[in-house]
Amino acid sequence: MFIISINIKQLEIHVKKSFEKQLTHKLEKQQLIMNSKNPKDLVPTFFTDTANSYDKIVYWTTFGEDNAWKNKILKQLSSEKTVLDLACGTGILTKLIADKIPQSTIIGLDITKNYIEKAKEKLKSYKNISFVNQDAEKLNLGKKFDCITASYLPKYCISDVLVKKCIEHLNIGGKIILHDFTYPKNKFVRKLWNFYFDILYLIGFFVPDWKKVFVSLPHLIRTSNWVTEYENTMKKNGLKVYKQDLTLGTSAIIVGTKII
Ligand SMILES: C[S@@+](CC[C@H](N)C(=O)[O-])C[C@H]1O[C@@H](n2cnc3c(N)ncnc32)[C@H](O)[C@@H]1O
Repeated sequence: MFIISINIKQLEIHVKKSFEKQLTHKLEKQQLIMNSKNPKDLVPTFFTDTANSYDKIVYWTTFGEDNAWKNKILKQLSSEKTVLDLACGTGILTKLIADKIPQSTIIGLDITKNYIEKAKEKLKSYKNISFVNQDAEKLNLGKKFDCITASYLPKYCISDVLVKKCIEHLNIGGKIILHDFTYPKNKFVRKLWNFYFDILYLIGFFVPDWKKVFVSLPHLIRTSNWVTEYENTMKKNGLKVYKQDLTLGTSAIIVGTKII
């Protein structure tokens, strides 16, 4: 009788502890989401401590699709003399651009110092690439480019602000190429997508630097309407627009050409 009552007590403690743990995780999740009304506020949370592992994480968490998506961006480029890669991060796309058009002059720009430092270190052998630590929404480089690219930036920015800044820095005939994640429209793909992010959330407990990203990113993608917003803004500003959905609607590219 005594042993049974001890075991019941232990079970009660165990159930209580696991309930409390679950509640803490739920509250943590909700708090992160509530704190991120403005997507830009998430930028320091996501990127201050993640530069060293970014390349591996983006490759594995997208099952290598990140590389395929960047190749779609590259397909839009031909022989541009000057390219500005906004939110260049660790320079993955910047390097691919330099490899495709070695005669071009490229600037990689990012708001996060640690990412710029990583990109500089990785690409120090590329004499045609330089880096600037600046906010893309306050872009002020005093020169114009044949092409401006940005992979995974649109959802953090206000379309009116970013597009206007890009147009000011774009030569006539030049292109703005924007790429980012999208929330799939197909119901079945959506279910898979949500399930995948639930798994990433659990994986987050083993990769602490990325936990906050895995918690907040799905909500950010679900609530972002960046493709429509940028398409409308580009059209309003006289750009010719081309859109492309990628990998079952999980990401998209939008290209705006400055025709006048
Ligand atoms: C997910 S990383 C993408 C890096 C790179 N474009 C790639 O595709 O691998 C997003 C980057 O956007 C940068 N970023 C976010 N908001 C920015 C802003 N307003 N201006 C410049 N960079 C920004 C972050 O610092 C981060 O390095």
